[in-house]
Amino acid sequence: MNFEELLAILADGEFHSGEELSGALGVSRTTVWKQVARLQELGVEVNAVKGRGYRLRQDVDLLSLSEIYRHLGDRACDTFAHIDLELTVESTNRVAASANVTPYICLAEMQTAGRGRRGREWVSPFATNIYLSLAWRFTEATASLDSLSLCVAVAMARALRNLTCSNVDLKWPNDLLFEGRKLAGILLEASGEVGGPIRVIIGIGLNVAMTQGQGAAIDQDWISLDEVATKPLSRNKVVAAILDEMAEALPAFEQQGFAGFEKDWREFDCLINKSVELRLGSGVIAGVARGVDATGALLIQQGDSIKLYRGGEVSVRVSQ
Ligand code: BTN
Repeated sequence: MNFEELLAILADGEFHSGEELSGALGVSRTTVWKQVARLQELGVEVNAVKGRGYRLRQDVDLLSLSEIYRHLGDRACDTFAHIDLELTVESTNRVAASANVTPYICLAEMQTAGRGRRGREWVSPFATNIYLSLAWRFTEATASLDSLSLCVAVAMARALRNLTCSNVDLKWPNDLLFEGRKLAGILLEASGEVGGPIRVIIGIGLNVAMTQGQGAAIDQDWISLDEVATKPLSRNKVVAAILDEMAEALPAFEQQGFAGFEKDWREFDCLINKSVELRLGSGVIAGVARGVDATGALLIQQGDSIKLYRGGEVSVRVSQ
């Protein structure tokens, strides 16, 4: 037995006795107890009550494919026919990379080795956030994928705005922030032959209801959607809103590149006219952010000259 089978039974939020679980899973009660301990180690909140058994924290809001499809618009329903929902995976990006259909979506309740940009870990506790990877194939005719990460960020910001979470900011190239605290991150991973079609995995991590304890290991300021939204939101509805926007945004990007996103980018851009530092492999560029060009490259002004940058990690200078 692995703990996923146990989790699947506990997911109904009801009490299950050790005896019932050992019978259903075909293992000893000691093994059940050990797997409960393993779940608890992974941060899954399992209550163990003498005489009643085990149950998941009552208010756990689990993802459900039927709920997601119920909220999904027609276009997204047609576009995303393959959605897998897993309880635990190492990384949804990894699962999506090895899937043999495209478009393909992997969602998970938890990641044991969630990946962030620049080799960082993406903290991924159970049933609190959204971990979503979307595989999409771009034809060789798509001019440049440079601005794709900005387009995905704009699509995410539009989805959150539709859910009444306004005042979400975008930090180049693709961080979603609220009042300077990170709300969501996007990790793009591409594979394909030069000159041929490119399969891109768009990995989205969105904090929805993470507690301070669960996010203690995160080394930057962060925030969850439940602190930002004007009303309580189910994760299923949030996933559907994201997929609705992706089903519009990805074909639009294929047809017009960044052009269809530039205006919204400007509206959400939180770096514009701020003193920033851009960390590159070769050093640090300090200047004033002047938005992005038509390809999504970051414009930084130093003295009278404005240069464009396609990579690096940007931050607002503390002196501001
Ligand atoms: C960042 O560092 O800002 C990007 C974070 C991306 C995290 C998401 S969670 C779903 C997908 N699977 C991963 O392992 N990473 C991405």
